Amino acid sequence: PRKIIIDTDPGQDDAAALMLAFASPDELNLLGITTVAGNVPLSYTSRNARIVCELCGQQDRAVYEGAERPMVRPLVTAEHVHGKTGLDGAVLPEPTMKVQPQHGVDFIIDTIRREPEGSVTLCTLGPLTNIGLALQKAPDIAPRVKELVMMGGGFFEGGNITPAAEFNIYVDPHAAAAVVGSGIPVTMMPLDVTHQLMTTKARVARIAEIGTRPAATMVEWLQFFERFDEEKYGSDGGPLHDPTVIAYLLKPELFSGRHCNVEIELQSELTVGMTVVDWWRVSGRKPNVQVMRNVDADGFFDLLIERFARL
Ligand code: BDR
Ligand code: CA
Repeated sequence: PRKIIIDTDPGQDDAAALMLAFASPDELNLLGITTVAGNVPLSYTSRNARIVCELCGQQDRAVYEGAERPMVRPLVTAEHVHGKTGLDGAVLPEPTMKVQPQHGVDFIIDTIRREPEGSVTLCTLGPLTNIGLALQKAPDIAPRVKELVMMGGGFFEGGNITPAAEFNIYVDPHAAAAVVGSGIPVTMMPLDVTHQLMTTKARVARIAEIGTRPAATMVEWLQFFERFDEEKYGSDGGPLHDPTVIAYLLKPELFSGRHCNVEIELQSELTVGMTVVDWWRVSGRKPNVQVMRNVDADGFFDLLIERFARL
């Protein structure tokens, strides 16, 4: 199985991504989970990662606490979407697991140095702060990383936190810029993909039919999470962002895109955090990111539901 580290700011959709990874041990060897401030402050995201482990009977997983704030800018959070705790919507177990003593950034550095070159895939579901800090502290790790798959950005679809920027990139654009400039092969799952993945009533009903505690909790989380889009945009369900990263590792054929140049806007207050995607290759700049644009939505939900049923 492919060795992965999941870097996350749970988040109901982050929880769905973690569950998809837990349910896929034949394909994925999860070396550790690192947490970052994003949807909610770090104390919540670190707690939430452990709650998701416990809910799924995965108490033997290792959770490492990472960065408390972005590299340069002040932290921006998204309680308006995820609720005060980040996992609002369901009654949850108290975590009994402890966080690991090592800092998340050091865990990332040590793991990439220890494992064979080209064997570790980084999966990022939140702001890229931990990876940005790891690259700053240990630039030698970049050529050793197999691949980084991130949920973040948006191009033709626009932004979800400002008209120009997607939340994960907006919160720490400096870290995102360090990642796309690092030479690591990057695959990006932007809003253009995730907005095709709506948690419709019919799809949520299929998750409910599974009948287990993790599935029932996921239904409550999704019903909480999707209210934001339903109230604001009148949609049937909300977009499921973060599991795209794990689904891509399991079934890359569900996604299609283009290898092109991506740069991150750092200067303009109006467009800071924008992922400037050179889809039409007009800039002459070197392609550095595999940018996904389309997804087989039914295939994606079939995979998700089939795996959730294994937990
Ligand atoms: C991203 O931001 C968070 O709200 C979600 O968890 C996802 O990672 C979507 O823009
Ligand atoms: Ca997230």
